[in-house]
Amino acid sequence: MKKILHNARESYQRGELLEIYLPEEPIALFDAWFEDFQAINAYDFNSMTLCTFGLDGFPKARQVLLKEYSSEGFVFFTNYMSNKAREIENTPKVSLLFYWAPLERQVRIQGLASKVDRSVSEAYFKTRPRDSQIGAHTSPQSTIIESREFLEKQFKELKDRFGDMEDIPCPENWGGFIIQPVSFEFWQGRPSRLHDRIVYARTEEGTMWNRYRLAP
Ligand SMILES: Cc1cc2nc3c(=O)[nH]c(=O)nc-3n(C[C@H](O)[C@H](O)[C@H](O)COP(=O)(O)O)c2cc1C
Repeated sequence: MKKILHNARESYQRGELLEIYLPEEPIALFDAWFEDFQAINAYDFNSMTLCTFGLDGFPKARQVLLKEYSSEGFVFFTNYMSNKAREIENTPKVSLLFYWAPLERQVRIQGLASKVDRSVSEAYFKTRPRDSQIGAHTSPQSTIIESREFLEKQFKELKDRFGDMEDIPCPENWGGFIIQPVSFEFWQGRPSRLHDRIVYARTEEGTMWNRYRLAP
């Protein structure tokens, strides 16, 4: 089977990213773009691609949900025994990628991941729907399991065990990571492949941002 997609392309013309619009802090531009996207796309608007260094040398990409962001960093939640968590433990250098097709925009972030305080994970866990909380207890994320039935049986057993307990506790092996950015690249599609690419990179002291334009 072979499919040729040579003619699948768009001419990007919905925006521009010129130096005159750029804020000092990259998080301010991220926030403006994030809100633009949320305003036109409500479904999974907070999903992002997280790329880690695989223990086998292959880069590993997967979607996760962005749950908090600020100038401190970008937070998502996961199982601390999962492959991604082990990979982060091995090397905290990660990339995040956001692609907002309807706006012809991409944001690429490089940063250093670390676990959030337990209190942050517990506070977020409390807000999750009960079945998602039980799901977090159920799934030995990233391990090989024998069947779908295994998961469903585990889920049912845990549901029975928790019964009508009011607050399901946050599992020990579940929580958040925060990615503290060291660089951002903002990409805005433009006609004739003359796209705008602006990078903010942390200065050596780590307190300010250097800003430059890259060729598309
Ligand atoms: C839209 C979307 C959102 C997801 N959000 C999360 C998330 O927030 N946390 C998570 O652990 N997995 C999330 N997943 C599942 C991950 O992509 C992945 O399959 C899982 O975390 C196991 O990854 P790992 O084996 O590399 O650790 C999401 C998947 C999709 C498609």
